[in-house]
Amino acid sequence: MAQDFSKFFEPGRVHRKLYTDPAIFDLEMERIFYSTWVYVGHESQIKNPGDYFATHMGRKPVVLVRDMDGTVRVIHNQCAHRGAMVVATEKGNAPEFTCCYHGWTYHLDGKLKAVPLNHGYPRDFDPSNPKTAMRRVPRVTSYRGFVFASGAADGPALEETLGHMTTSLDDLIDRAPDGEIEVAGGVFRHAYDGNWKVYFENLCDAAHPLFVHRSSIDAAQQQSDAVHSDGSGEIAIRQMRQNGAPYSFWESQVGIWTYPNGHSYLGDYHDDSKLVAALKDPVFRDYIAALEKKKGKAETKRILEVRRWNSNIYPNVSLMSQFQQLRVVQPVSVNRTVVTTYNFRLKGAPEQVFRNTISFANIVNGTGSLVLTDDLEIYNRIDMGLSSEGTEWLQVGRGYHSDVPDAHGGRRGVNSTSEVYIRNMLDAWLGYMNDSRREQARAAS
Ligand code: FES
Ligand SMILES: [Fe+2]
Repeated sequence: MAQDFSKFFEPGRVHRKLYTDPAIFDLEMERIFYSTWVYVGHESQIKNPGDYFATHMGRKPVVLVRDMDGTVRVIHNQCAHRGAMVVATEKGNAPEFTCCYHGWTYHLDGKLKAVPLNHGYPRDFDPSNPKTAMRRVPRVTSYRGFVFASGAADGPALEETLGHMTTSLDDLIDRAPDGEIEVAGGVFRHAYDGNWKVYFENLCDAAHPLFVHRSSIDAAQQQSDAVHSDGSGEIAIRQMRQNGAPYSFWESQVGIWTYPNGHSYLGDYHDDSKLVAALKDPVFRDYIAALEKKKGKAETKRILEVRRWNSNIYPNVSLMSQFQQLRVVQPVSVNRTVVTTYNFRLKGAPEQVFRNTISFANIVNGTGSLVLTDDLEIYNRIDMGLSSEGTEWLQVGRGYHSDVPDAHGGRRGVNSTSEVYIRNMLDAWLGYMNDSRREQARAAS
């Protein structure tokens, strides 16, 4: 009989097993990280035919590749001979993929192209049989350049699953004066000993910065405004001071929005006087001029009035359109997670805008960041705490009785300190985990 995961939920509470049980984790990888839509990369990472980018869907290694005819594909990174991983470098360009073990060679769409010692295989060995291919992931769809894949051959379309969250992806693209963005620069990657869900559950946690990030808040408050003449330090100081906003600020001026399928964003985080990229900053003035030239004053005003902070697209990607960051969450085991940060260049914007993007990435996502390191310590302490014999039930009930409906089919927290976004993710989690239909369809196919 199918397992019913609702037993792990009580009103405003969730059982700790969701964060510690390896069997639950294994099922999450099938029912969430393979059967739903997961983000696999951006088309600018594979601009030309033959460009590839090796990544993961949950724990499964896959390759995002642009075929010779321009088609974007996702194929499983496994050789059909004896199973070796074929593509071992993270990115590159190749006319074909060759396995390192016995040299089986594949077309970019995964079909087998050539086999050394072909004559030695049994007489019925057929290189055109799909069983000798690097298997394709059945569904791959791009939303305006953001590529998502699903291991389920049928199910809701990508845009249906994204719902209102397409507006956060639009916001990132709209900010480019030329209407195009591209992944640029290097990446930041960090790992922590903890469950993947605690990362997402922290991204919109407005109740933690004042407390967790106290040391960098204190340091930033003591710094003079003019200490860094190149502007990069100013972003750091602004962000760290912003983290020190009092609880009354989070409870009155910041909102939290949630949408079906586990998505959410923190909004209205900054107005002009508090904005990290302050509109009066000379870099921003030049940027606004470039935007107005291409898009007109009214559209520029509309774009800059979108003030979302982290937009979380469940289950594996979070983006921050104001600073052009995108973070991908890769679960490794029940208590090990890797997070990679990518930075986008806004085409048509002054180059200094991208430098600000990198400065911001250093502060918030850099492995030497004074902010990120606090959060990593928390993720690990959650993992250690959960291994004790303490309470089995964790509280996620803040704001439980005050959620309000949103016009786009979602729920809003009464203010940004509500844990509504955690409950919303857990609702999605339960829906996916209790649904074994796609797995059964796969088993039967
Ligand atoms: S395992 Fe790939 S060619 Fe043998
Ligand atoms: Fe934090």
